[in-house]
Amino acid sequence: MGVFGKRIAPLGSPRRAPLAARLPRSAVQGTYTWIAPFHDLLAHLVEPAARAALLELAAVTDGEYILEVGVGTGLTFRQLVDQNPSGRTIGVEYTPAMLKQAKRRLGTSRHAYNLTEGTAFDLTFGGGTFDLIVSSYMLDMYGNADTALILSEFYRVLKPGGRVALCHMAVPESRTESIWDLAYRAHPALLGGCRGVSLTAPIANAGFVVREALRVTYRTFPSEVIVAERQ
Ligand SMILES: C[S@@+](CC[C@H](N)C(=O)[O-])C[C@H]1O[C@@H](n2cnc3c(N)ncnc32)[C@H](O)[C@@H]1O
Repeated sequence: MGVFGKRIAPLGSPRRAPLAARLPRSAVQGTYTWIAPFHDLLAHLVEPAARAALLELAAVTDGEYILEVGVGTGLTFRQLVDQNPSGRTIGVEYTPAMLKQAKRRLGTSRHAYNLTEGTAFDLTFGGGTFDLIVSSYMLDMYGNADTALILSEFYRVLKPGGRVALCHMAVPESRTESIWDLAYRAHPALLGGCRGVSLTAPIANAGFVVREALRVTYRTFPSEVIVAERQ
């Protein structure tokens, strides 16, 4: 495989610490309001291999009660809805401009779903509600404390034995992968405030047991894909 191809490997420990989170919570909605029309360009360019791995490892069984948090323009959500025609699939998104794109994408769906505005920090669902929570390329914009808060919300609303399926930018490990760090250092909003993170330990610290963990690199862009189970 050349440096621009696809590589999937077991997830190990990163060789260096992630960059500090630099997009304040208060800037998330503003940033994604201007990103909304262009979001899918970068997503289609560098995220499809990790998104496919995420959906494969999430292993949806039709009939489940599923929540996706940070649905963005609905790229993952559309596939979740298609895989769960007899179940319930709910999507939460913080930025109205992104939510509008997601609703447009889902407009042609033949299956039932619910898309709603909200935040990962304060999910409006009772404890022990969901079989599966999915979130892609959202936790990588937050620092350790915010990530712990969000993971505790995921834990709360999952049923015991329920699973969380997460995908986010991984810490770069080679010179070619490091171009993404350079872009983030230049201007975090260029990458929607996302930088490489390592979430196996925070997920375990939140009380989950990690079941599967892959590192997927596609066109130099590294991602972690992790599925963990709530105890
Ligand atoms: C990089 S986009 C990824 C979108 C989508 N998950 C995907 O994989 O294409 C990150 C999304 O997370 C949303 N987001 C950020 N913080 C959030 C929060 N606290 N609660 C819900 N959504 C959030 C942003 O508004 C944005 O739409």
